[in-house]
Amino acid sequence: MNINEIRKDFPQLQTQVNNHPLVYLDNAATTLKPQIMIDAIANHYAHQVANVHRGVHTLSEMGTRQFEETRLAVQKLINARDSYEVIYTKGTTESINLLAQSFGKKFLNPGDEILISFMEHHSNIVPWQMIAETTGAKLIVAPIDDLGNIDLVEYKKLLNFKTKIVSITHISNTLGTVNPIKEMIHDAHAVGAKFCVDAAQSIAHMKVDVQDLDCDFLVFSAHKVFGPNALGFLYGKEELLNLMPPYQGGGAMISEVTFEKTTYNVLPNKFEAGTPAIAEVIAFKYSLDYLNSIGLTEIAKREHELLAYATLEIKKIKGVRIIGEATLKSGVLSFLIDGIHPHDLGTILDKEGVAIRTGHHCTQPLLKRFNCTAAARASFAFYNTKEEIDIFINAVKKACEFLL
Ligand code: ALA
Repeated sequence: MNINEIRKDFPQLQTQVNNHPLVYLDNAATTLKPQIMIDAIANHYAHQVANVHRGVHTLSEMGTRQFEETRLAVQKLINARDSYEVIYTKGTTESINLLAQSFGKKFLNPGDEILISFMEHHSNIVPWQMIAETTGAKLIVAPIDDLGNIDLVEYKKLLNFKTKIVSITHISNTLGTVNPIKEMIHDAHAVGAKFCVDAAQSIAHMKVDVQDLDCDFLVFSAHKVFGPNALGFLYGKEELLNLMPPYQGGGAMISEVTFEKTTYNVLPNKFEAGTPAIAEVIAFKYSLDYLNSIGLTEIAKREHELLAYATLEIKKIKGVRIIGEATLKSGVLSFLIDGIHPHDLGTILDKEGVAIRTGHHCTQPLLKRFNCTAAARASFAFYNTKEEIDIFINAVKKACEFLL
């Protein structure tokens, strides 16, 4: 991996923030964009604007072809059996809302159980709470240990014949924990439950294969995979998606409309009402091509090294407490410093050009589990360097001198 060449592909890495070169360590929130993806968006809006699946004119047909090529690229990325098992959405959050509402209406009855874990992001809690309220199903939460590992013994005990769906994150956005998702899916299937993997934090950082995992559903967002905003994906097994009702009504999802009754389109269109994010979908293929040109094995190795180095260095600072020390971790480092509020730390780091996330990370119940309401978080991508980690660590030391 030629890191200097790679960094040139991301224009934002060349920018200054507060008169310092940007050190971008907020990759779990969103990733930076390669120039080829930005060019693809600009090219579409400058020269190729047309709606998709709706016209016979040249640009519409060309746009439709490119739009579907991205679906094939996503199918390949996750190794789905068919491209129509990939549904375009606005993001991970909309994918889970779609799933909760549609699966819930079809399969959930009073007394049924939905199993999540203590380390879920709000977007994998609230949609399930909402459908539980409507259907009379119950939300059950699998515990974690003090290091941030899922408690597998308790998880297995909680699974029972009432469990209809399990929805668990592959990698925790706050703890960095990599969950033993394949084993958990196997256990869920043994009681007849379906399993949704929230891959928002894993898909850009490790190889994810839906057939090997045998998950029933999987969700992720493009913006965390060096792609555009307002685009996400729901993968579902064909037989389940076919049984589930549409989520939203409108153009493209219909087969025939009369005032008396409407019949619905086949997959994937059944779940894709209205004009989609066309430029963003088309451009996302360029992000995936870029990702593939580097390779997820290389990426995982590099990010692991960055995490190990940052963890070692931050532990040398007095008063540091790491939130999340699971056995298997991905490139996320959440921490607290005795006597310093994470927001104050984040503000001082920002003055040095270092971007980290501070706050509850959309995981309020999880932070409460660790007896805090906010934490600081540095999260890494393959374009980060050890030199950037040194700048980050020095900025943290400077903040300690200033604030303590
Ligand atoms: N889920 C994103 C994060 O962890 C926004 O920051």
